[in-house]
Order: sequence, then structure tokens, then C-alpha cells
Amino acid sequence: MEEKVVLSPRLQTVFSMIPECGTVVDVGSDHGKLGACCLLNNRSKKVIATDIHELPAQRTEEMLKECGLSDVSCVYVADGLSGVPVEEDMTVVIAGMGGLEICKIIQNALSEHDPFPMNTWFVLQPQRSFYEVRSFLAESGFAIRDEKIASERGRFYTVILAQYDRNRYSLSDEEYFLGPVILSKRPKWYNEYIAHEEQVMRKRALGDPKCAEILKNWEKLI
Ligand SMILES: C[S@@+](CC[C@H](N)C(=O)[O-])C[C@H]1O[C@@H](n2cnc3c(N)ncnc32)[C@H](O)[C@@H]1O
Repeated sequence: MEEKVVLSPRLQTVFSMIPECGTVVDVGSDHGKLGACCLLNNRSKKVIATDIHELPAQRTEEMLKECGLSDVSCVYVADGLSGVPVEEDMTVVIAGMGGLEICKIIQNALSEHDPFPMNTWFVLQPQRSFYEVRSFLAESGFAIRDEKIASERGRFYTVILAQYDRNRYSLSDEEYFLGPVILSKRPKWYNEYIAHEEQVMRKRALGDPKCAEILKNWEKLI
């Protein structure tokens, strides 16, 4: 069964950023592969998986059962983290969802359970709305500790490792769009990602002066 738990390059990158911890909470678990992989590789002792829809939650439950991991996992049909208090030694993973949905899930959880334990880790892989996600993290007291780029079937994905430390801060527009760690550390796929984002930025610049401004200094990113 374990050979069925093969992660795509995007999910491998998400997995690589999950710190060792007591419990991984996989929000929007769908197929359940990420949670199974965390347990099979001792990344966490326990997994809580949530999905807003019944069918993906069933798929996750089936995957964990087939891997013999039912005793160390729980699957809930739930919207985001509702009913799942964020506790010490937990890492919350939200991958493959729109950025605004990710912000909403974290905001709702903060309203429900605030304060999260200090230093709780969040591994986030938004599909879009990167500016909004990083602004939300900065304004809500989540430090961006690491960022990576994944490439899969000609698309690029960015993964953010954030830690809740309650310190609010601000970044430049360039950093909100492209990522403070991506810009400073230039991880794998950086050149390809920046070349791709230049095209995206050119289209956005037609309606967003922030993008037009960033493009003026694009040379320094190359
Ligand atoms: C595109 S899949 C991504 C699955 C997996 N996380 C991944 O990265 O491969 C998105 C999943 O999130 C679920 N989902 C969407 N909104 C959600 C929410 N607010 N709370 C929990 N699950 C949600 C969907 O039902 C779907 O199964």
C-alpha cells in the first residue's frame, strides 16, 4: 500500500517543509496522501485531516486505513479548522487552495481559538493571491521563515513556512508578490519562476500601479 503514497513534486515540496512535530493537521486533505506520508516517514506521531466535502474525507480515511494508520489519525468533514483547536506541537498544512480561502481559514481559526500557541508552524501552498496571503501573514503576526518553489507539469508553485509569533510587520510590494525568502535565498527554480512572474507582472501592470512600479526595477531580480 505504501507505494501508493507517492507525492507529486508540488506535494513533495510541501512535505519537505513540514517540521517534525506531534500532530500534523492537513486542511483540505482530499486524497489523504500528505497525511499518510507524514506518518509513514515519522514526520509526525498523529495526523488530523479535515475536508469540507464528504467524498474527499472518505478518500482520506480510506487511504489512511489501507496504510494501517487509522489508529494514529482522525478525519473530519469540517470547514477549515473549525472544531479543531490548534494546540502545542501541531503543524497546520493548507495546500492546493486559493490564497483567499487560506486566509479565511486561518482568520476563522484565530477568531475561534485565539491565541494559537506561540511558534505554531503553518505550511501554506496557495494557488493564487500571493500578495494577499503574505500581507495577511504580516498583519496577523506570522513570520515567514522559509519559502520554496516547486515545478510540476510546466507550472510553478510556491510554498511558505510561517510561524505564529504575534509580531506584526510589513514587507515591500515586491516581497508581498514574490516572497521575501524567495527573493533573498533564490531557491531552486528561482530563475524560471522569476522569468514566468515577469510575464504575469506585465499583464497585471496594466491595471495595478504596484506591479508597474515593481517592473521598473525587474533587472535587479535576475
Ligand atoms: C485541490 S484539493 C488539494 C488537496 C491537497 N491539499 C493537495 O494539496 O493536493 C483542495 C481540497 O480542499 C478541500 N477544501 C476546500 N475548501 C476547504 C475548506 N474551507 N475546508 C476544508 N477543506 C476544504 C476541497 O474539498 C479539496 O478536497
